[in-house]
This record gives sequence, C-alpha cells and structure tokens, in this order.
Amino acid sequence: MVNTSNSQTPRIRIFDTTLRDGEQSPGCSMSPQQKLVMARALAELGVDIIETGFPASSQSDREAMALIGRELRGTTLAVLSRCLATDIETSARALEAAAHPRLHVFLSTSPLHREHKLRMNKEQVLESVRKHVAMARGYVDDVEFSAEDATRTEEDFLAEVTEVAIAAGATTINLPDTVGFSTPEEIRGMFSRIIARVPGAERVVFSAHCHDDLGLAVANSLAAVEGGARQVECTVNGIGERAGNCAIEEIVMALKVRNAFYAQDTAIDTRRIVPTSQLLQRLVGMPVQRNKAVVGANAFAHESGIHQHGMLRHRGTYEIMRPEDVGWESSQMVLGRHSGRAAVEARLRALGYWLEEEELKLVFEQFKALCEQQRVVTDADLQTLMQDASDSQGYRLSSMTVSNVGQHGDTAQRASARVELSDPDGQRVSETAEGDGPVDALFAALAAATGVQLTLDSYQVHSVGIGADARGEANLSVTHQGTAYEGSGTSGDIIEASALAWLDVANRLLRQTTAAHSDSGVAVA
Ligand code: KIV
Ligand code: ZN
Repeated sequence: MVNTSNSQTPRIRIFDTTLRDGEQSPGCSMSPQQKLVMARALAELGVDIIETGFPASSQSDREAMALIGRELRGTTLAVLSRCLATDIETSARALEAAAHPRLHVFLSTSPLHREHKLRMNKEQVLESVRKHVAMARGYVDDVEFSAEDATRTEEDFLAEVTEVAIAAGATTINLPDTVGFSTPEEIRGMFSRIIARVPGAERVVFSAHCHDDLGLAVANSLAAVEGGARQVECTVNGIGERAGNCAIEEIVMALKVRNAFYAQDTAIDTRRIVPTSQLLQRLVGMPVQRNKAVVGANAFAHESGIHQHGMLRHRGTYEIMRPEDVGWESSQMVLGRHSGRAAVEARLRALGYWLEEEELKLVFEQFKALCEQQRVVTDADLQTLMQDASDSQGYRLSSMTVSNVGQHGDTAQRASARVELSDPDGQRVSETAEGDGPVDALFAALAAATGVQLTLDSYQVHSVGIGADARGEANLSVTHQGTAYEGSGTSGDIIEASALAWLDVANRLLRQTTAAHSDSGVAVA
C-alpha cells in the first residue's frame, strides 16, 4: 500500500553516489578529471545530490571535490566521513569549494559490525553518533547520518540511534541495506515503523541506500519509498561494491512509469538517462549487459514475430515506456568538415559531455584535424577524442607496423609488430615482438613497451558507421591480477583500433595505480 501519511517532501530526492560508492568498486575508478566530466552529466540529468567521494580516503577524492565544487554551483554536493574528527575536518575543508555542501557521516549499528568491526558497545556507538553529527553540524547545516548495516540492526537500537542523530542535528537519516540482505516487505516495515516512532522524524528526510547482492536493490528502494523514504541513493548503471547499488535508471523509470501507484515524482530529465549511462560505460570501461533494463542495447529490441506484429499494431502491446523518453535516439548524427563548433558542441552534449569554453575550443581543433584524415566523424570518434583528452597522462600510440613473418605449425601465421609510444612523461618508447597472428604480436609489443601484463579474455571488432565511412571499433575484456577490465578503441584501421583498446585498459590501470599511491585505502560499502 502506498504510504501517504509521511509527506515530508512532494517528491523523491535522487542522491547519486556513482562517484563514491560506485567509483570505489573494482574496475570503476575515475581520475578527478573524469569525475568532473561525470558530475557535469549528473547535474544535467537532474540529480538532487551528488556524492563526490570520501576525502579522507584519498588525495584524488579531495581534488575531485575541488574541481566539481568550483563548477557545479546549483547541485548539492556531498562527501562521506567516518565518525572520526579527522575525517570530518578533512571533509569540511573539501566542502569549502561547494555552494551547497552536505556532510555525510556514517557509523555501523548492527551487532555484527559493532562486535567485529568497531569493537564498540551500544553506548559507545550512541555517544560517537551524538558527538560526530554535532561536530559535522558545526561546519555545515546540511548533515546526513547513515546507520551502516541498518537492516541487520535491532530495531529498538536503530530507533535510538536515529533519535540521537536527529537531536544532534542530522537533517537526513539514511538507513542502508549495506549488504543487500533485506526484502521489500521487511524494509518497507522498517522505514514506516522507525518514522512513526522516532521523535523528530517529521523534521528530517529519510533515505534508502540499497545494495544488490540478492538482485533486490531497486525493489527494496521502492519498498522503502512506500514506507516513507523521500530520498533514494543510487548509481548510474547500478555500479557499486560487490553486486552494486540501486540503479538510477531503473528506480527513476519505475517511479515514472508506475507514477499512478507510487505518486512520487523525481526531478530527473529522463531523456538524459541513456547518454549518461553510455558516458559512464566509456569512462570506466564497463559496458552494461545487452538485456540490462532501460539502458541495455536490447532493452527496446523486439525480435520475435509475434512481438513485432503487436508493436506494428500498437507500441503499447510490448513497450511500457518509449525509447526516446529515456534518451535512445533513432538516428546517429554524423559530423564532417563542414560542421561548425555549435554542431560539435550539441553532439558532445547529446553524448553526455558538457565542456567549458576553453575545453570546447581544444576539442574542436582536434575535431578539425580529424576531418582532414577522414570524411565523417562518428559518435565513436568523438568519444575517442574525449577519452584521449582524459588519457593525456597515459601512454599514447605514436606509430605501429605489423607484418607477417612466416608460417607456424599447420595454420597459424607468425607475425611481428613494432609499436612506438609516448609514455606518461612524454618520453618515446618502442618495442618489437612476435606472436601468432598480427593482433597477438601487437599486444605482445604493447605489453613489452608499457610493462603491463594483461590476460586477454575476449576480443571483438565490429564496424561503426556505414559503407566507405565505416570505422572499426575494437572491444577487449582482459584480466589483470585477478580483476576484469574492459577497453575499447576506434580507428579507420582495425589493428590500430585494437592497439587503442589495449592502451585504453593499460591507461586505466596506470591511473588506478597512481591514485592508489596517494590513497589511504579506506573504502566502505
Ligand atoms: O552501503 C552503505 O552502508 C554505505 C554507507 C556508507 C552509506 O555505503
Ligand atoms: Zn553503500
């Protein structure tokens, strides 16, 4: 049943934690510059709050907050802190850059976490919450408190913690399902009972933060809304620790498509959903599965004859939302040498990139240079240009040659590849290697030149664009020290596209290693 008794706000606030909970998961790390690109897209998408990171955990998160704060003046920007004075001081300093700052403080409350992680008893937890929420309120007016592992916490104690946090000045109370353990029925009950019994609950916004370990993150977030939550925490494409977080595209479209049932709106511009999803896929090199709800390639594809027949008669037979309403486009616009800056800017925006004047000037020059080499510039080319801009610190391909060197065994053709790269310090490195075929030789030469060893799990090339203007896109799945990574590259030549895809992964690893050296390694769910 829809809970209408708790009308704290007229709509659901969308708190996006792609840049914090999402970014800290394996294979999803982003540089401060990439976080800025993503934050601009999130602001255009219309999220209410962007959690930019966890400043006490890394220099990279502090830099990201400074960059984002300088630019995004209309969106609330949040950062995470443990219940530690040093964390809160660091967060408060980072938030000085924000026009609308929110300090997000968390502490575990469940018996398992109290005993094994915190080694604190209930009284100590309550005292820490009281002290650190009050301290955070000393810096900013907008303070969120999260009771980590709330769904496995004794309800009486959770109510006490909530009461203490509100009395100490918290303005938002988040009750996370940290390990994705809850069910919709349980979480709906937890929210409605806590809201009903805790003094002061009517003065704050309650928030849901659900992980997807049992595939229930979106269902649980919707149930929390029924129980009275008026903020939902989520990530683009559902990235996040382990199985991920509640996916923004799914929760937002569920609230929109089933508005008659939930009676709650969001401020999201749903036509920006697919471009934002695709931007993140490119930035972190993690594609979504084809059948992913809303943003997967097959989400609006109709294959069977019966479905196609129904669709031709009436779209509503097999479609509950229109692809254009979530940002799928029916046509791909192709740019060329006659295209002006405004057209390039418009296309970049459609792809999720919102550039400052100076950045646009630079990209437009690169676009013009590309038009000298090829007749048309596709979306994939523009995305490669943008990727190159953010990879300026990594390895760049200067030249490559691949040649066959003779037969090996019955079938395999031995090949030799020579690559010349400029390394992150701008120095030239070149290496030659042999392999079973041109791609094997190429990857061996790149590994020798960069010192990065990747195990290839899958390799695909396909064409983007039409006819003589078609270009090759290579996609790689690789493993490095037990973690899976994806990379892609586009070029008029498929072997070169393959080299760019390989470097895409290598540069990602490089960025991650650089970030790890400046990090304290603290991460939370
Ligand atoms: O999952 C969780 O409990 C968290 C909190 C830090 C909000 O990410
Ligand atoms: Zn989390």
